[in-house]
Amino acid sequence: MNAIWRQGLLAASIAVILAIGAMPAAAGEHKHKEKSEDELGIRKGSVYEEEKVEPKHGEYSHKEPGKSKRIERAFENSPPLIPHDLTGMLPLAETNNACLNCHMPETAGGIGATAMPKSHFFDMETGKDLGGKLDGKRYSCLECHVPQVSLPEPIKNQFKADFRSKKSRTSSNLLDSLNEGVKAE
Ligand code: HEC
Ligand code: HEC
Repeated sequence: MNAIWRQGLLAASIAVILAIGAMPAAAGEHKHKEKSEDELGIRKGSVYEEEKVEPKHGEYSHKEPGKSKRIERAFENSPPLIPHDLTGMLPLAETNNACLNCHMPETAGGIGATAMPKSHFFDMETGKDLGGKLDGKRYSCLECHVPQVSLPEPIKNQFKADFRSKKSRTSSNLLDSLNEGVKAE
């Protein structure tokens, strides 16, 4: 076989392979409707006219403490959401933290509030039990506990929490379960 003929054969086979590769695409061609820029994203609106896009505002709970209904925990040992109104309690100041009036273990029971758990009276860094004194890192409650508004979800949340007991749906025990499965040296 001479070299030129061989090259011709190679070129022909490549052409056949390419043609076969292209065939199914041409036969089953999908008609994609292009999305306009306004349809992209969750909030549907032009990114060039931000001022026309209004965030959805919901209503926070107006139920005063004692009259609201506790919200089921998002997952085991998650920080519970605040179900009651916070009017008059904010801001939390260095010398005044209204949350403590009702959520310290010694007062909570009497007024039907949930007592802060053991983890809040424990220094996780040093592993020291603070003997009933609130850990300073827990003072700013709203860093972890937040109120909720009721709004339709723009995208359905598929997350399903796996609670290991019925009790863990409504109460926490992080300090007791934190070291589960961890073996001390
Ligand atoms: C006047 C008392 C009072 C004050 C002040 C108060 N709470 Fe409450 N809190 C309650 C009561 C009572 C409940 C139980 C639900 C109910 O009865 O409304 C509750 C429920 C909660 C829950 C849900 C607990 C659970 O088991 O799901 C969280 C979280 C919470 N409060 C956080 C706070 C934070 C943070 C503050 C300060 C910004 C605060 N609370 C101020 C009385 C109070
Ligand atoms: C650094 C985050 C963080 C801060 C700050 C914090 N918490 Fe919590 N809180 C949690 C988490 C996480 C849980 C659930 C797990 C646990 O610790 O047992 C919880 C649980 C609770 C519970 C439920 C107790 C139970 O038995 O189910 C109450 C009530 C509560 N916190 C109140 C407060 C209050 C009031 C403050 C402010 C003084 C505060 N927390 C500050 C993270 C925080």
